[in-house]
Amino acid sequence: MLRKSRELFFAVIAMVFITLAYLLVQAATREIPSASGFWGHSLGVLGFVMMLMTETLYSLRKRSKRGARWGRMSNWLEFHIFTGLVGPFMVLIHPGWEFKGLAGVLSLLTVLMVFSGILGRYIYTAVPRASNGAEISLQELEFSALQLEAELARLKNEEKTRPIIKTEPGKGSSLQVLSRFWLDLLDIIKDQVIGTGMSGQTRQKVLALAKVNRKYHQVQRQINNLAAARQLLSLWHTVHIPLGLTLFMVAFIHIGAAIYYAVLLY
Ligand code: HEM
Ligand code: HEM
Repeated sequence: MLRKSRELFFAVIAMVFITLAYLLVQAATREIPSASGFWGHSLGVLGFVMMLMTETLYSLRKRSKRGARWGRMSNWLEFHIFTGLVGPFMVLIHPGWEFKGLAGVLSLLTVLMVFSGILGRYIYTAVPRASNGAEISLQELEFSALQLEAELARLKNEEKTRPIIKTEPGKGSSLQVLSRFWLDLLDIIKDQVIGTGMSGQTRQKVLALAKVNRKYHQVQRQINNLAAARQLLSLWHTVHIPLGLTLFMVAFIHIGAAIYYAVLLY
């Protein structure tokens, strides 16, 4: 679980530390750090540097022809998500709770970008991938489904003659992709209910069968939804990328104005 979402875990830890440091500064100076003061300004600059890294590094790695020597794509995406959460957190607390004018619009864009990223991650994980981030092909998924069918037949002591549940590649819809969390959760709850009231070996056997069955249903859904998930991901890209570009355009205007008014005029 931690291995699967370690970037979220480290992002939360970093945000807790930043909040503690913020409260410490506030207590020591007896005022909320202002955007143009040393602490508020430092938060804005550091957070913005992290956001710039979020915008550029993953894309560069993704498009680099000889990128393999720079490490796994999955690690770069984890780093993208870490900086994509911590950077916005820092810039959002840098104004000392004032969100007026163009800077307020910039804050809103930043929040939207983070929410879009979270939605994107959910869609991204609907496309099955190997641990290095490379997509698993339809053929490989179908092979896993066949293996699971054989495993199910073995557990049920059945002669496996034909597929138990047919897969229908391409039949899935965006709605099915988006609701997969609930479908998986429903399967887990169902399995727990099946196990209640049974004891000892019978329960263990039934739960082992239910586990393989659940995995099989999951792979079956992945096969049916693969095309829809890829389509949804590319649609999401067409919103997420321009949103990011707009954000950075507004950010450069804000930074230019901030430097002009807050620094050069003094
Ligand atoms: C996406 C990144 C950023 C966001 C969302 C953001 C947001 C804001 C907001 C909401 C304010 C308060 C505006 C007001 O009360 O009128 C502010 C003020 C300020 N920001 Fe940022 N900011 C960002 C990046 C930066 C960076 C990188 C710098 C450093 C160059 C910076 C420097 C300042 C300064 C100096 C002020 C004070 C301006 C004043 O008091 O008139 N900001 N920012
Ligand atoms: C400042 C905040 C963020 C910025 C500027 C940003 C920017 C981007 C950009 C430019 C891409 C396109 C990469 C490419 O295909 O070249 C991207 C993809 C992506 N981002 Fe973010 N992002 C941010 C936050 C987040 C967050 C918070 C998450 C997750 C919680 C996230 C998850 C993703 C995912 C899953 C992809 C798709 C990767 C792929 O299709 O290869 N992003 N982001």
